[in-house]
Amino acid sequence: MTLTIVGSQLGDEGKGALVDRWGGDADVVVRYQGGDNAGHTVVEGGAEYKLSLVPSGAVRGTVGILGNGCVVNPRTLFTEIDDLRERGLDPDVRVARRAHVIMPYHRVLDGIEEEIKADDDAGDEVGTTGRGIGPTYEDKAGRRGIRVADLLDPDALREKLEYAVPQKRALVEDVYGLDLDDDRAEAFDVDALHEEFAAIGERLADEGMTVNCSDYLHRRHEAGDAIVFEGAQGTHIDVDHGNYPFVTSSNPTAGAAAVGSGVGVTTVGDGDVVGIVKAYLSRVGEGPLPTELDGDADEEALADEIRERGGEFGTVTGRPRRIGWLDLPMLRHSARVSGFTGVAVNHVDVLAGLDELKVCTGYELDGETLDTVPTTTDRWERCEPIYETLDTWEEFDSSAVAEAGYDALPEAAREYLEFLADEIDTPVYAVGVGPDREETVELTNPFDE
Ligand code: IMP
Repeated sequence: MTLTIVGSQLGDEGKGALVDRWGGDADVVVRYQGGDNAGHTVVEGGAEYKLSLVPSGAVRGTVGILGNGCVVNPRTLFTEIDDLRERGLDPDVRVARRAHVIMPYHRVLDGIEEEIKADDDAGDEVGTTGRGIGPTYEDKAGRRGIRVADLLDPDALREKLEYAVPQKRALVEDVYGLDLDDDRAEAFDVDALHEEFAAIGERLADEGMTVNCSDYLHRRHEAGDAIVFEGAQGTHIDVDHGNYPFVTSSNPTAGAAAVGSGVGVTTVGDGDVVGIVKAYLSRVGEGPLPTELDGDADEEALADEIRERGGEFGTVTGRPRRIGWLDLPMLRHSARVSGFTGVAVNHVDVLAGLDELKVCTGYELDGETLDTVPTTTDRWERCEPIYETLDTWEEFDSSAVAEAGYDALPEAAREYLEFLADEIDTPVYAVGVGPDREETVELTNPFDE
């Protein structure tokens, strides 16, 4: 039995709460892409855990795997594990030996490339999280990456560093024309890198943390264990299916669950694939957002209200998120790309008590009506949303509604959810009405079917 959780918008849909909820019924939770650019907030009994690398399920004691499709910053990994241990948890995290390692120079390069793009006024900076994600995936594809397995073998590690680091240094000094005589120099020092990362390899080995991910998951699956694939980020920042170039460098969509963990597509496809939807939109970073609430002072005030109520500030970077109305063309694209069997709609409580409520059902572009997202940024940017105005609902007691079930939701909220489900032809499995895991109305538990 498997369950794949996918972000259906631009990341930050509240995947962590659902992974945590359903992951508790699973034996293994696997991340299959991305790295510490992700930000999962899990609230358990009033305690808040902000995780960027450790799979959310770890808060509930489920084995968490970082699959081969992930890029792993071991400094972040150990900081998070140590913090969780200090707070009395004992996370069991394993890392695929085929996963790539984010090295300090990748982070430096991420920053430099963004600065250069920002300086040339072409407006093509991506607004990355600065975690070195893109440069690490570039090196993976360029066959000069360092994998977790290399950290376990000091000689192999040195050989790889001696090949890669001078190229990186030349890129900074000769192509970008920057001096590396400041505090960034250490990130390009082979000896210092070797010392630190060989020691990290020793710790990974001592704690028995590395796995052959494909083999490990195959055995667990054969033994009848339930596996959750935890997607990070969202469909519209997928490097293939998202709003290129304002994307992350991996594939958050469901197909990557197979590639990024070494499990067959038939195994992933045999289980549920649940798209996580935020009841409105948020975006951190650059790129179009046709339904963005930024047209006039009233819209900006509404965006501020939703931002405050929904806590819409980046988990990783603290940046305020841009806010927009729910966009159904985006959801149609997501449902098709990943083959959603169900959706979970979060933050329904945040929309309570508004004066008006709009949903974008399609776009107008050059005299045409579109029901899905165009393939280029230029065309998407020029799309005019077609709105349907729906009834609003009053504030409600989230815990009481979560306990009483779906019918206890205000009628207008149920109509909103049913409208959404109908438009994308996908049933609602769960409704988030508050940040705590308990504040979820569950209609279908994928593991009970
Ligand atoms: P990167 O993944 O750091 O390279 O950033 C590329 C783009 O993806 C930027 O627009 C980021 O803001 C966005 N992004 C990356 N991770 C997340 C996430 O977990 N949530 C929302 N946006 C993200």
